Amino acid sequence: MTTEMLRGEGVCMRFGGVHALREVDVALAPGRRLGLIGPNGSGKTTLLNVLSGVYRASAGAIRFGERPIERLGPGARARLGIVRTFQHPQLAASLTIAENVRLGAALGRRVRGSSAAEEAARSEAALERFGCAAYAEGLPDEVPYGVRKMAEVARGAAADPAVLLLDEPAAGLSREERAELIAAIEAYCGDHPQVAVCLVEHDVPLVTALCPELLVLAAGQALASGPAEEVVRDEQVRVAYLGENVQVGSKEEVR
Ligand SMILES: Nc1ncnc2c1ncn2[C@@H]1O[C@H](COP(=O)(O)OP(=O)(O)OP(=O)(O)O)[C@@H](O)[C@H]1O
Ligand SMILES: [Mg+2]
Repeated sequence: MTTEMLRGEGVCMRFGGVHALREVDVALAPGRRLGLIGPNGSGKTTLLNVLSGVYRASAGAIRFGERPIERLGPGARARLGIVRTFQHPQLAASLTIAENVRLGAALGRRVRGSSAAEEAARSEAALERFGCAAYAEGLPDEVPYGVRKMAEVARGAAADPAVLLLDEPAAGLSREERAELIAAIEAYCGDHPQVAVCLVEHDVPLVTALCPELLVLAAGQALASGPAEEVVRDEQVRVAYLGENVQVGSKEEVR
């Protein structure tokens, strides 16, 4: 079982003149459930890209346990157990939903040396849990958008991650699909208490139903972080993002 913490310290990311991240600190200890919120363009996806190795930070340190991992690409970080999903599903178009999820499980096998049988079991469980079993033999283009979004999460879960970074998994889903996905993520978290989960999601009642802690980005900077009840009461956060009427959600309300 992994006990390492994924940590970003003073993380900066510049794209030409755009400062997408400025001196952001984030720590994902085993078992942490962190909601990452903020306006469009505030740097949420960029932070996941920098943590997962899709981008190399312009400045700052990324560590997994004691190990500096700035120089590792996404494949090497995934083999350490740092797994992410994409805001826009990135499934291989020529592979079925089941094959895509099995690719995730195979990644887990390389990480932890589990057997082919364990890998198959993880794939089956993830397909089932994330509502993809009925579409397992379909190609991504042939299945509904909601199934593609679910399969993206299933693929991450099947990798047996130490850290799971979820970029707006519920965006674009119907109310019923959102409820199904939330219930599935919640069940996954219950069964995997050691996995650190970072969930990007605009719907604050939804994200806080799953994540007791929030990090708020605004224009690439950490505006606030801490227990969700405190963060949503923060005056700066309300002005920058939330407005006056947002409450912390409960698991029952979002269903
Ligand atoms: N590859 C890139 N090249 C240039 N600019 C980029 C790139 N990726 C992100 N940016 C810029 O960095 C800023 C942060 O973008 P990012 O996608 O991280 O925001 P976000 O918080 O995920 O937004 P959304 O809620 O819309 O998904 C934006 O100004 C964006 O235009
Ligand atoms: Mg984004």
